[in-house]
Amino acid sequence: MILPLARTAPVDLAAAIQRLKHELDAVVLAHYYQEGEVQDVADFIGDSLQLAREAARSKAKTIVFCGVHFMAETAKIMSPEKPVLLPDLAAGCSLSDSAPAEAFRAFVAAHPGHAVVTYVNSSAAVKALSDWCCTSSNAVAVVEAIPRATPVIFAPDRFLGDWVARKTGRDLVLWQGSCEVHELFSVQALADLKQANPGCITLVHPECPHAVRALGDVVGSTKALLDAVKNGPVAATWLVVTEPGIIHQMQKVRPQGRFIPAPATVPGAAAPGDDESSQGSCTSCNVCPHMKRNTLEKLYWCMRDGSPSVELDPALIARARLPIERMLSLG
Ligand code: 13P
Ligand code: SF4
Repeated sequence: MILPLARTAPVDLAAAIQRLKHELDAVVLAHYYQEGEVQDVADFIGDSLQLAREAARSKAKTIVFCGVHFMAETAKIMSPEKPVLLPDLAAGCSLSDSAPAEAFRAFVAAHPGHAVVTYVNSSAAVKALSDWCCTSSNAVAVVEAIPRATPVIFAPDRFLGDWVARKTGRDLVLWQGSCEVHELFSVQALADLKQANPGCITLVHPECPHAVRALGDVVGSTKALLDAVKNGPVAATWLVVTEPGIIHQMQKVRPQGRFIPAPATVPGAAAPGDDESSQGSCTSCNVCPHMKRNTLEKLYWCMRDGSPSVELDPALIARARLPIERMLSLG
């Protein structure tokens, strides 16, 4: 009988993870929304697009993905021959869950002749029903690559879709999904914060509703927001209207900067995106519970055990790969 390995971890987890990287010939990829200590042991930290690119070009034999399930799935689709480890398989995504494949298939069938653009925050089965994938970094470029005469379905994030529709001047057919983190930022609390911090620079992710985006000085993907800090003043005050994990890297590039995570509306107190005037706010509702399921200990265990790993049907991989490759070929 094989006894399961004990769930104990070495004291110096970071050193043990480095050793395992060599043993497995593994690359550890981490999204900017991971815990700081997870980002610090990663070989590559990035937003969804950067991580998809890195997963596709890495020469390592094993990919360890510190992010959520759809991201690890994307890596598996691009490197089906490699094990793709995810420290916690239950690291899901409300946005991806908002588009079940069968309902999406019916939606696509109800819009014949439409090009289907799907945000990478979607399941492999939904990607397989799509013509193009996109991330928040390249969604505008992807839609602009489609001839204007072709009508476009954009899924699953209605707020990102609204942002892209405004930027491109196109009338997109939007799937009504949303991110449970970005839809909750409080317009009123943000307006109050701006007033209390004159001269501050407000950074907003496009998964936020329009009323929140309208208060942003910079609106863009996590990488675009980090770039704004890198290229911005040395000692500014920044209001960060996205998942606060990104502040770990912002603080590194601008040690003298002051970074204030924007609060969210108390769930249930107002409809998402409303111009609420007197709602309570919540300073922890902006943390993505799915991203934070990955911890340094779970990262160590999954590398030690070679599990859990993402498994996908080869036929699904073959179909889901096309829209991702089309996106990556845009450059
Ligand atoms: P980006 O990494 O494209 O900025 O997307 C943010 C996000 O919500 C990832 O889950
Ligand atoms: Fe999904 Fe979390 Fe990203 Fe929102 S922040 S899109 S819930 S992974």
